[in-house]
Amino acid sequence: MVEKPSIELIEGSSPDQFIASSPTKPPFKSRAIAHFKRRWWVHLIILTVVALVITLPLVYVGYPRIAQDGISDSTLRITSMEISSPTPSGFHLHQVQVLGSDSIFHPKLYSFNGAVRLPGYDDPMMNITVPSIQANDGATIEVNQSVVFEDARIFAEFSKALMLQKEVSLNIYGKPRLKQAGLHTITVTYNHTITMKGLNKLEGFQVVELKLDPGRDDGMNAKGSVLIPNPSVMTLAMGNVTFDLSSGGTDLGPAVIHDLVLRPGNNTAPIVANVDELALLGILPHHPPFTIEMQALGNSSVYNGSELPYYTAALEANPIIFDFDVSQALPS
Ligand SMILES: *[C@@H]1O[C@H](CO)[C@@H](O)[C@H](O)[C@H]1NC(C)=O
Ligand SMILES: *[C@@H]1O[C@H](CO)[C@@H](O)[C@H](O)[C@H]1NC(C)=O
Ligand SMILES: *[C@@H]1O[C@H](CO)[C@@H](O)[C@H](O)[C@H]1NC(C)=O
Ligand SMILES: *[C@@H]1O[C@H](CO)[C@@H](O)[C@H](O)[C@H]1NC(C)=O
Ligand SMILES: *[C@@H]1O[C@H](CO)[C@@H](O)[C@H](O)[C@H]1NC(C)=O
Ligand SMILES: *[C@@H]1O[C@H](CO)[C@@H](O)[C@H](O)[C@H]1NC(C)=O
Ligand SMILES: *[C@@H]1O[C@H](CO)[C@@H](O)[C@H](O)[C@H]1NC(C)=O
Repeated sequence: MVEKPSIELIEGSSPDQFIASSPTKPPFKSRAIAHFKRRWWVHLIILTVVALVITLPLVYVGYPRIAQDGISDSTLRITSMEISSPTPSGFHLHQVQVLGSDSIFHPKLYSFNGAVRLPGYDDPMMNITVPSIQANDGATIEVNQSVVFEDARIFAEFSKALMLQKEVSLNIYGKPRLKQAGLHTITVTYNHTITMKGLNKLEGFQVVELKLDPGRDDGMNAKGSVLIPNPSVMTLAMGNVTFDLSSGGTDLGPAVIHDLVLRPGNNTAPIVANVDELALLGILPHHPPFTIEMQALGNSSVYNGSELPYYTAALEANPIIFDFDVSQALPS
């Protein structure tokens, strides 16, 4: 039989080691209590260090990472965007968007400066102030402010893309401060590209009605109405929009839609035109149906006396072709 090694430590000589069996000593429990009473601070320090070693990375590494991931994985859906009071240097913006988030965190995001970019351009076209929000799934973020362009030429490119494309994208970039209840405030990066429907060349545009209206005092000789579909969620105040009408290369005169406000869905707007009747008769088919293919090319957008170069550029980029029944325009 191997002799059991007997371990006996004299308490005090080596304070950090545990005391093994020793028949002459008081029972284990009371010794442990006595030890703890004298050395409680050592245990407290160890406990605190262990707690910090576990929680500090969680708080200082895990929390910012989880929070940043939550922000990066969140989605943003624009439900309405209204551009009103346009001037050559800016407009009033009223935009409502819904946040989508499945993060375990629902931090408070403080208001921040968001630079709005058209993808592919380095410089922002404008800045918006994103309001403070509680980042819950489904939270509504409402921006309602006047905007001054950082670069009006980039906004013109955006307007063209909006006019011509089925979908347009915008990037919003900022460095919001964020705070999760009970934790400290950190800074995260908000970098989101949102895609929304564009005007898709105003496909479906129709002249619903256009009749000669002699004796007007505004230099026009015809009036009627047009149907302009807007598949986007945007409302655009475009002011007085002038088109040049033509057919097969023959100029047929200007047409104006006054105070055009394009709202989501089908828009019916009154139109006046100064139709060149001789030119129109010249291209009239000899036999019915008296339908010609007409083109309306945007010439300008003027709001409160100022031309809006960005909308003019968008209108010029989009010749609208539609069939027009001339017999409805001519006096019967
Ligand atoms: C717009 O945002 C950019 C980028 O954050 C910044 O450099 C610029 O100063 C801001 N402009 C204004 C007018 O606040
Ligand atoms: C948006 O701002 C305009 C002008 O500051 C104000 O007249 C309007 O009531 C605001 N709309 C909302 C919904 O807050
Ligand atoms: C936002 O993220 C995109 C894609 O990761 C990147 O190309 C772009 O440079 C970022 N924007 C900014 C302003 O850093
Ligand atoms: C808009 O009008 C077109 C043609 O009349 C129709 O086909 C379409 O359903 C309408 N769209 C809406 C949203 O009312
Ligand atoms: C726009 O309309 C004006 C006035 O009718 C005309 O002089 C000008 O040539 C037009 N511009 C274009 C690009 O059609
Ligand atoms: C229209 O323009 C004039 C002068 O350019 C300006 O004083 C006025 O405030 C503008 N009105 C609106 C409603 O923007
Ligand atoms: C459009 O033109 C009419 C008449 O020329 C003018 O009274 C009106 O104020 C203009 N509308 C805008 C938004 O500038």
